[in-house]
Amino acid sequence: MSESPRIRPLSEALANQIAAGEVVERPASVAKELLENALDAGARRVDIACEEGGVRSIRITDDGVGVHPEDLALALQRHATSKVATLAELETVASLGFRGEALASIASVARVRLISRRAGAEEAWSVAAEGGEPGAPEPAGHPVGTTVEVRDLFFNTPGRRKFLRAERTELAHLETVVRRLAMARPDLTLSLRHNGRQRLHFPATEDRARRLRDVLGRDFGEAAHPVALEAEGLAIHGWTRAEAGELHTFVNGRAVRDRLLQTALRRAGEDLGLEGAPAAVLHLSLPPDEVDCNVHPAKAEVRFRRGRDVHDALVHAVGEALSGAFVADSGGSAAAVAESVPEWRPEPAASGAMAGTPSPEGGGARVLAVWPEGYALLAGEPPRILDLHAARTALYRRRLGAPGKVAARRLLVPLDLTDHRVPHLWPRQGDALATLGLVAMAEGERLRVERLPDVIADTEPAGWIPELLARLEAGEDSGEALVAAAANHPAAPPTAQGVAELVRVLEAGEGMPEDATRALEAATLRGLMDRK
Ligand SMILES: Nc1ncnc2c1ncn2[C@@H]1O[C@H](COP(=O)(O)OP(=O)(O)OP(=O)(O)O)[C@@H](O)[C@H]1O
Ligand SMILES: [Mg+2]
Repeated sequence: MSESPRIRPLSEALANQIAAGEVVERPASVAKELLENALDAGARRVDIACEEGGVRSIRITDDGVGVHPEDLALALQRHATSKVATLAELETVASLGFRGEALASIASVARVRLISRRAGAEEAWSVAAEGGEPGAPEPAGHPVGTTVEVRDLFFNTPGRRKFLRAERTELAHLETVVRRLAMARPDLTLSLRHNGRQRLHFPATEDRARRLRDVLGRDFGEAAHPVALEAEGLAIHGWTRAEAGELHTFVNGRAVRDRLLQTALRRAGEDLGLEGAPAAVLHLSLPPDEVDCNVHPAKAEVRFRRGRDVHDALVHAVGEALSGAFVADSGGSAAAVAESVPEWRPEPAASGAMAGTPSPEGGGARVLAVWPEGYALLAGEPPRILDLHAARTALYRRRLGAPGKVAARRLLVPLDLTDHRVPHLWPRQGDALATLGLVAMAEGERLRVERLPDVIADTEPAGWIPELLARLEAGEDSGEALVAAAANHPAAPPTAQGVAELVRVLEAGEGMPEDATRALEAATLRGLMDRK
């Protein structure tokens, strides 16, 4: 029989490295911890610079309250925190951090430097640690606030380093962390540079919807429906879309991926006929003592004291938002959508670039005027008139795809048409149209539309289906007839922003079709402007 192994305490360094395994998985987790510290320090602006997907370095600078010089070394040690001192405080903690472990964990697996200056202090101090033990503090130059620099992640734990992925992948994870934080805190100015180039920039704003558009793009904004529910101390606010997509949930300002929340969202989606959870960005707020954030080392999950209530409230709130939204989508009242979603009104096209999205200048279109009849005036030398019907037709035609391969979406609530000619003509055309993603059934006097091709989801079927049938009866090719009819019936009147986007998409693809624009003589332009 072999001897029983003897027990020895772990060295401090090894204990920290083991703890780091739970919190520091990859550069993105380092960024998350450092960002949370910056927020807990009251920062209004945070700049992140990283190299090689964050593996070589991550530097995060904030303008928060700073660290007392005598506490600098302590900040890098385990179980040292300024945020909670008693169990009672832990149970109602409002700060993002409370474990007093993040910096120590990071310092045990990387080279870390902490530089900080407190408000009112004459000078800044810095302390460095390499794989653990902090050195002595030294005077340094730094404005009020803190910079934490993390270099050579996992330099001393090659086994962990092997799990890191390609630079691109690590950067994508890092960007996700920054984008999530941006959604949680629109009041914060945030930027991310990678290998010296700016990747993300979100200027502070009071307008949550605007920040969301900055982060997720206009597409999300335009199809998003507001969610709002307040009941018995629980508040749910945000936006959702009637299709699968990015899902972000926040609890008291903390980004969480919680199973209970995901189950609730899936339920809400399935209730409405989706195959899973709808795309959503949802902020839940509830009293801190009703949520336990201390159940997961990276605090990615939480536990709710009234889990059932939270679940039901979420299903209800999202269901309401989507079912209400759908009536407007299918019933043809674009105005109703605009009214129920005031914050999503399109901005003027010239309002400038958003981080991560090509600027209107980049696409070459500045829209000077839009006429509801379907024309727009584009800036340029010379200015050009854009025929919106021709432009939309080109776009739909390019995107429609081959019969049988057309992406289609199922309507949450089927759309009933009662135009008397339509049900009569449908059976003859139904098969050809089904291969294009347009699925409908004639039932007595009405036509029930169940699926629409994705590319024309922003149009008004009640308007274009009769026109489509007329074109087919006249012998037009079914694909051509579909795009031409749909292009004549946009769901909403044209806006400058919509036109700019249309031009951008066309130019980014195969270019503007020749028949869509023509140059404009100065005299004609003056005439048009007078009319406007
Ligand atoms: N950017 C910063 N500005 C000001 N103080 C900071 C900053 N970063 C860290 N600190 C100080 O260092 C301490 C240790 O930070 P660390 O992240 O290790 O622990 P924590 O935030 O208290 O808890 P957790 O482990 O849950 O993140 C903090 O409590 C805080 O006092
Ligand atoms: Mg922390």
